[in-house]
Amino acid sequence: MQRLTPRLRKDGVDLELIMLIRTILAASKEIAFRVNQGALSGILGSTLDENIQGETQKKLDVVANQLIKDMLLDNEQVRALASEEEDTIVAGTENAPYIVAFDPLDGSSNIDINGSIGTIFTIYNARNDVPNDSPEQFHQRGKYQVCAGYVLYGPATMLVLSTGGPTRCYTLDATHGGYLLTTEALDIPSETQEYAINGANQRFWHTEIKQYIADLIQGEEGIRGKRFNMRWNAAMVGDVHRILTRGGIFCYPSDTKDPNQPAKLRLLYEANPLAMLVENANGKACTETGDILDILPHDIHQRVPVIMGSRNEVETCLNYYKQ
Ligand code: AHG
Ligand code: MN
Ligand code: MN
Ligand code: MN
Repeated sequence: MQRLTPRLRKDGVDLELIMLIRTILAASKEIAFRVNQGALSGILGSTLDENIQGETQKKLDVVANQLIKDMLLDNEQVRALASEEEDTIVAGTENAPYIVAFDPLDGSSNIDINGSIGTIFTIYNARNDVPNDSPEQFHQRGKYQVCAGYVLYGPATMLVLSTGGPTRCYTLDATHGGYLLTTEALDIPSETQEYAINGANQRFWHTEIKQYIADLIQGEEGIRGKRFNMRWNAAMVGDVHRILTRGGIFCYPSDTKDPNQPAKLRLLYEANPLAMLVENANGKACTETGDILDILPHDIHQRVPVIMGSRNEVETCLNYYKQ
């Protein structure tokens, strides 16, 4: 089985970018080790702090953030970084070529129950038209990502990565400590009978998504004419990993739950990297009105509605918003 670095070289990826990806993965191996140790590593439970989004931080949110941040700041390829757990951007090496954004630990509510969790990351070329330490470094559309990936800490630790070409899948071989290529190119089936949405939010949904989900639930007796099944991981990486593997649709629509937050998921370090991975695996990733990868960000923590997965099903869902 092929190792990561030779595979990336064969894909024509710049050596500097390969070194940067390897830095993130070195941090991911540290996190994987601690996750595997569970309660023995003292990383379960909450801190007394909140992040800028008002979420109580879990110990592992903070530990994972610190590990990735420290390693990235030691890497001279990084001009600035942004993280879910950092209020604002963190400056790295002046005039370095890349900027990195990450969700150090996705699926925080799964940490204490030994459920699937992950680390999501994205890399862009740094901008030379704004200062090194300006948040505007990150005001770049998702379609300009030079690399997107996640590491899923599940029963196996897996890396899913795209550097612009196909979305490839690697598995961490704990015996030698390296990521080995296990799926050359993920290919999401365009049709599906599986959906993922947090149904507990139903009373906050807008009419379009209410009607779409109601039609799915009707199954073979409704206008869809086929039976659907529902899966919800409470970790977007887990849901998207299932969809990349066997198809499906993931929806976290806008809702009226919090008048200050029209949607839940974060564009920069959740929606955009996962959208690139889904699109490069022949899937589709949208908000309720357009492609996620076309949005010009104005805030590093800005939130967006997300509908992604099997191409035809995503288009069917979007048609409800067009009527
Ligand atoms: P995070 O743990 O990084 O804050 O992200 C959690 C996100 C996402 O992973 C997941 O799909 C969603 O929140 C879960 O939302 P619910 O609490 O509505 O299930
Ligand atoms: Mn969080
Ligand atoms: Mn997250
Ligand atoms: Mn997180």
